[in-house]
Amino acid sequence: MSTASAIAHPNIAFIKYWGNRDQALRLPSNSSISMNLDGLETRTTVRFDSQLAADALQLNGSAAAPAQVARVSAMLDLVRQLAGTSDFAEVTSSNNFPSGSGIASSSSAFAALALAASAAAGLQLDEAALSRLARRGSGSASRSVPAGFVEWRAADTDEDSFAVSVAAPEHWDLVDSIAVISEEHKAVGSTAGHPLADTSPLQAARLHGAEGRLAQARQAILERDLPALAAVMELDNHLMHAVMMTSSPPLLYWQPPSLAVMHAVAAWRAEGLQAGYTLDAGPNVHVLSAAANAAEVAARLGKIPGVQRVLQAGAGGPARLFEA
Ligand code: PMV
Repeated sequence: MSTASAIAHPNIAFIKYWGNRDQALRLPSNSSISMNLDGLETRTTVRFDSQLAADALQLNGSAAAPAQVARVSAMLDLVRQLAGTSDFAEVTSSNNFPSGSGIASSSSAFAALALAASAAAGLQLDEAALSRLARRGSGSASRSVPAGFVEWRAADTDEDSFAVSVAAPEHWDLVDSIAVISEEHKAVGSTAGHPLADTSPLQAARLHGAEGRLAQARQAILERDLPALAAVMELDNHLMHAVMMTSSPPLLYWQPPSLAVMHAVAAWRAEGLQAGYTLDAGPNVHVLSAAANAAEVAARLGKIPGVQRVLQAGAGGPARLFEA
């Protein structure tokens, strides 16, 4: 096969990945756990062609910037190496959700690319190998390969650092209501952000408790315990943003409406509406609740000044091939 198409969902981390022990291999400083977001997706087609003079990339209908092509080519190089080919490829990719604003588009992008490119090159990688390959493009992409609720283990070697599913999507009808506050591309993306993590005096403290928080989050998922998940998820989120705010240079991703949403969720919880929040490297706020409360959460989020719209997603499936 010289052409293949794949679909992957972005994911939202409950316990965050921030900082690498090896930047080049994207070996994370700590393990992380996330949920794939059903309904939000990247679709990517890769076609290897011996007639091409260079790799080409179309993103959301337009020719991509040179830096984006270079990042895709770096992953294609890994695939070419594995498959023993030197053919260039034409890559077409589109998202059905805003890119670059804290809805981790790089997670679904590199999971879909790893699968489409490896299949187009004739490789049949198992889930662990695919997750490792996706990790090289974007760390969080390793977690968009398996289904549902997914854990990515930190390790010292390429071989040992990949993601596995801890529960299927059907395990828990949790819904992520995403308060979209900005759809603009962020000034400092996560690839440039990770190397700054160790410049924060707080990173060591964050890492010290990360494995314990991950165990708590995993248990809360397995027991479908939203209050327990919300507590550890918000703590972990505050710790990551504290590291970001105190790195050199500092990264301040929150906007005033982000803070308004955080306060609102805490107030709703005090009134008895169970929900918890987390933010990635951007101003948008992900609010997790039971499916039964998701319509109420979305209606309330929509009334907060500065919230432009609300996207909703339940737990999503794995990266998979499709017929384009
Ligand atoms: O995969 P990257 O390099 O885009 O990093 C993702 C970092 C966060 O989204 C902030 C946290 C996470 O674990 O997804």
